[in-house]
Amino acid sequence: MPRIYIETYGCQMNVSDSELMLGVLAQEGYVRTDDPAIADVMLVNTCAVRDHAEQRVLGRMGELKRHKRPGDVLGVVGCMAQRLGPTLLERVPQVDLVIGPDGYRGLPELIARARGGERAAEVDFKAWEHYEDVPPLRADPFSAFVTVQRGCDYRCTFCIVPMTRGPERSRKLADVVGEVTSLATAGTTEVTLLGQTVNSYHDGTHDFADLLQAVGVVPGIRRVRFTSPYPTDFTPRVLAAMAATPTVCEHVHLPVQSGSSRVLKRMLRRYDRGRFLEVVAALRQALPGMALTTDIIVGFPGETEDEFQETLSLVADVGFDDAFTFKYSVREGTPAVRLKDHVTEEIQAERLGRLIALVRSGAKRKNVGLVGTTHEVLVEGRAKRGSLLQARTRTNKIALVEGPDEWIGTYRRVRFTGTTGSTFAAGPVS
Ligand code: SAH
Ligand code: F3S
Repeated sequence: MPRIYIETYGCQMNVSDSELMLGVLAQEGYVRTDDPAIADVMLVNTCAVRDHAEQRVLGRMGELKRHKRPGDVLGVVGCMAQRLGPTLLERVPQVDLVIGPDGYRGLPELIARARGGERAAEVDFKAWEHYEDVPPLRADPFSAFVTVQRGCDYRCTFCIVPMTRGPERSRKLADVVGEVTSLATAGTTEVTLLGQTVNSYHDGTHDFADLLQAVGVVPGIRRVRFTSPYPTDFTPRVLAAMAATPTVCEHVHLPVQSGSSRVLKRMLRRYDRGRFLEVVAALRQALPGMALTTDIIVGFPGETEDEFQETLSLVADVGFDDAFTFKYSVREGTPAVRLKDHVTEEIQAERLGRLIALVRSGAKRKNVGLVGTTHEVLVEGRAKRGSLLQARTRTNKIALVEGPDEWIGTYRRVRFTGTTGSTFAAGPVS
């Protein structure tokens, strides 16, 4: 049986897409391997959101080519493949095939053609593509990513995603519920609904509120998460559905990007600082005790020290539980390229340092305050280091707890006994 090796970079949708590709290839008799040295086909599922992510992949291709034996196929798939298309074949001679996010159905055929010596790129958008008939091969039996929406119709001026993932489209509610039902039947208890602006989901008849309520009551499902929402798509209906659906978890990842209304305007985000804070208040009212995390970009073109200070003060005002922080990265073809006053790398690095310090100290203060509290956790598996089990609260906090393998995949009540500032030590409570 041919062996497939996939390496995944970037967001959770890429993790989910890799499971889809494994599903496509399983139908052709492929088996998965974690060792590129024995793989017949090696795929690298890529991210294009920042230059750094692309440079890492290019470096990695140089390493993977060492495992290529005659007849083996090395492919680049995902957003960087979509962005660069056939030019990637020119730039990296060892690459045999290039496939964008809407082309995974064509994998078996393109692999066969690559075996025949042809180097091909498949980067057409297919506005109908949801891979509805392909059962993904998922790694985790208890917690599943379920893509409910592909593409993005927003036009944030820094972002390449609309160009790499194409137009926004939502799966039919009944198809999503069908998939979640069969997952639950097989033992999955937690689902994370995925989309670029997941709460703008609309299948022509049903909105995100309908979807949350429908998925939330599937028998066997105990936890519903979603990522990433767009701040202004939390309509009163969606907030009400969250409040009315006990399986919806008390954690929202809410990308803010900047705390300055002027910067947000240049980013073409559809809210200002005040509106964002209103959304935060509405979410906290809908689900008391909710944890909030975010994405922040520093050094966007034209960002002044005063504007950056507004980001710092917003972080302090909201009290995020955590944040992914990035230096602005120029993406060819996006509108921000043409904005004036690009911020130097030195200033970006210096601002990033101050922001990370503030995020960490805020998270630590919050987490120290949680020591002594009790939580329901889903035990996910053995922690990467040491002998403890890794478990997760509904608020998405990670707790390490001592226990037998039999606990993996089960729900337990634990008390937090200590914190590193980001993760927790915990003990079982009866
Ligand atoms: N809608 C998607 C956003 C995908 S990009 C989602 O919600 O997941 C993920 C994050 O990468 C963005 O929220 C943003 O903070 C960051 N990002 C996107 N483009 C960027 C760029 N050009 N430079 C730096 N960071 C960027
Ligand atoms: Fe990118 Fe903005 Fe869409 S960050 S993915 S263009 S919502």
